[in-house]
Amino acid sequence: MRILITGGAGFLGSHLAEAWLERGDDVTVLDPASDVKIRHLRANPKFRVIRESVLEHDILEGLVAWSDLVYHLAAVVGVEHYVGDPYQVLTVNINGTQEVLAAAFRHAKKVVFSSTSEIYGRNTAVPFHEDSDRVLGSTLIDRWCYATSKAAGEHFCFAFARMGLPVVVLRYFNVYGPRLDQMDRGRVVTIFMGQLLRGEPLTVIGDGSQTRAFTYVDDAVRATVEAGLRREVEGRAINVGSEEEVAIRELAARMIKLSGSSSRLISVAKEAVYDQGYEDIPRRVPSVRRMRELLGVRARVTLDDGLGRTIEWFKRQ
Ligand SMILES: NC(=O)c1ccc[n+]([C@@H]2O[C@H](COP(=O)([O-])OP(=O)(O)OC[C@H]3O[C@@H](n4cnc5c(N)ncnc54)[C@H](O)[C@@H]3O)[C@@H](O)[C@H]2O)c1
Repeated sequence: MRILITGGAGFLGSHLAEAWLERGDDVTVLDPASDVKIRHLRANPKFRVIRESVLEHDILEGLVAWSDLVYHLAAVVGVEHYVGDPYQVLTVNINGTQEVLAAAFRHAKKVVFSSTSEIYGRNTAVPFHEDSDRVLGSTLIDRWCYATSKAAGEHFCFAFARMGLPVVVLRYFNVYGPRLDQMDRGRVVTIFMGQLLRGEPLTVIGDGSQTRAFTYVDDAVRATVEAGLRREVEGRAINVGSEEEVAIRELAARMIKLSGSSSRLISVAKEAVYDQGYEDIPRRVPSVRRMRELLGVRARVTLDDGLGRTIEWFKRQ
């Protein structure tokens, strides 16, 4: 098969590209970012990188026409962007998704859309089922622009599905693993990682009681490949995650223990890290029934195992 991965130079896309290449398929990545996460794939003759934006209409059109299956991962991701550049988040995540879906519709190609657990917002009724409510804060709080942009993307997916486009929505829950982000940047695991490897205190925001269900990247990729292959999931939204709920404070403690570091934990007020544009979510845990029943995938990698592998990878860098 010919696989197009928008945003394929990113963390999840790089692993997904690897998985499809291992199956013997052709993979093209459309992403303007540096190729540092996919450099190891460049020698493969079945692999190609186009360093352009999904917003480049003609390039996108040609690549969608070439492909058999489109994974739309391109997005502006990371809390620093939600609160720092909401315009870019909204533009790429909404307009880019509309462009990709419209091109796929014109060429009758299946799309797998990368959505997020952020969609559920601060709904407190965990675990989140795919039809659970979205509970979002005010539009005056910038952090909600990401969840809103992904929700708009989902609405576009379902609108195109009604018109006959084969499309699947995957809602990822805190995927982590090697190549996640640069140390100290982006998501909580990489921020802790930088502090850990320098022996500095791990900075937990607030009291650290907020929980997440972290999903090791190999499990997320298996689900993502299945979503591309299975016809019966078209038109559906599916949570992709692990049920292993952990408080951020406990995550930090486990990372310290697993790495053998002498770091300790400290609490910092959220105002010291983000300005008014930030609001944290107390609990975030998926119902994984659909992932199990529709995709035939269950998260196999435990948090300790996945964190151990991730710490080892970062230590080698
Ligand atoms: N990793 C997670 O835990 C997680 C959770 C929920 C949702 N997601 C979704 O999965 C997808 C991949 O996430 P990730 O963790 O790999 O993030 P990432 O930031 O590593 O990857 C996103 C990629 O999109 C690219 N991109 C940005 N603007 C683009 C544009 N205009 N055209 C083409 N590419 C563009 C970036 O350069 C980047 O390489 C995203 O859509 C994200 O919203 C990820």
